Amino acid sequence: MSQRTLVLLKPDAVRRGLIGEIIGRFEKKAGWTIRALELRELDRPLLEQHYAEHVGRPFYEPLVEFMSSGPSVALVVEGERVIEGVRALAGPTDPIAATPGSIRGDFGTIVRENLIHASDSEESAERELKIFFPDFS
Ligand code: PPS
Repeated sequence: MSQRTLVLLKPDAVRRGLIGEIIGRFEKKAGWTIRALELRELDRPLLEQHYAEHVGRPFYEPLVEFMSSGPSVALVVEGERVIEGVRALAGPTDPIAATPGSIRGDFGTIVRENLIHASDSEESAERELKIFFPDFS
């Protein structure tokens, strides 16, 4: 089942020069394709839309602040079961709980600076792709 997902390489991944390393992992998966890619600063209105479901959670403000602390890379990745697949490659939210071999397990230690966002369901992917790539179809 081919799908599309929205991936963000967060400001820590960009600052640390990990863009190529992380995108390379997607490119090596059989049949997955990068369909769109953009380096951009994410402003507060866009982040408020993207993280609307988390408003009021204790991590919301630190998350929005961190996500607007420098450029991110936004990508559309397409391919077989890519929504579940990118989440598996990323590993769990807390990098210390992530196994070596996953992106967060290999490169992360801090929950806030966990390198990557990936849509968690088909509904989220559809919503998030419209926010970040409104002209993409
Ligand atoms: S939940 O409860 O399952 O919906 O939450 P979760 O998916 O684990 O986290 C939602 C997003 O919040 C980020 N997060 C944090 N940011 C900063 N500080 C802390 N402590 C923190 N805890 C969670 C987490 O990385 C998720 O962001 P995205 O961009 O979706 O990865």
